[in-house]
Amino acid sequence: MGFNVAIDGPAGAGKSTIAKRLAKELGFIYVDTGAMYRGIALYMIKNKIDTADETAVSEAVKQAQVKIAYEAGEQRVILNGEDVSGEIRTEQVSAAASTTSAYKAVRAHLLELQRTLASENDVIMDGRDIGTTILPDADVKVYLTASVECRAKRRYDELTAKGEVHELEQIEEDIRKRDHQDMTREISPLKKADDATEVDSSDMSIDEVVETIKKLVK
Ligand code: DC
Repeated sequence: MGFNVAIDGPAGAGKSTIAKRLAKELGFIYVDTGAMYRGIALYMIKNKIDTADETAVSEAVKQAQVKIAYEAGEQRVILNGEDVSGEIRTEQVSAAASTTSAYKAVRAHLLELQRTLASENDVIMDGRDIGTTILPDADVKVYLTASVECRAKRRYDELTAKGEVHELEQIEEDIRKRDHQDMTREISPLKKADDATEVDSSDMSIDEVVETIKKLVK
């Protein structure tokens, strides 16, 4: 069994930035489970499966093989043999992933892969249900959050840096919608595990958040 750190929280709370830094400093593997859900969503988009149709998605997901590889310490998402790590980072995929990740068959499809990675390695795993469902016995559990306004601004800056043009108001609205979907779904909704430590990153620097979590690990 590896040493497992679970970091859950809403979109834009800084989970991936923090988890990547922590993994590097602690010599752990970083497992980004959101990227796996994005891989499944991309499969549906590419194959013109209506993401609102749970029956169709549940059938199609059987053909979507998601694997994780590491290149120079960076996680890559491999979908049916193709590296889709870049393609999964669009707003279209974000929205589709929020919809399809609510389906039981999709969650069941990825559960084993996530648990196996955690049992074989020391991991920092981030997502929505890691502390509550995937790794209920994780050694350290963190619920990382921030205000909606702050998360929207971070996403906006990230997309702008990539050269994508978006309205800040639209991003904020999308985040609110995604929060609602992720927090109110029936299976594995996003919520703080009873034994998780809540960290609000709204007014904290990346360094401060990393140090706060490191103290929980040591
Ligand atoms: O963290 P992210 O934005 O890359 O996640 C994409 C979507 O996947 C998000 O809407 C919620 C979903 N997700 C999930 O349901 N469970 C996880 N463990 C990780 C992500």
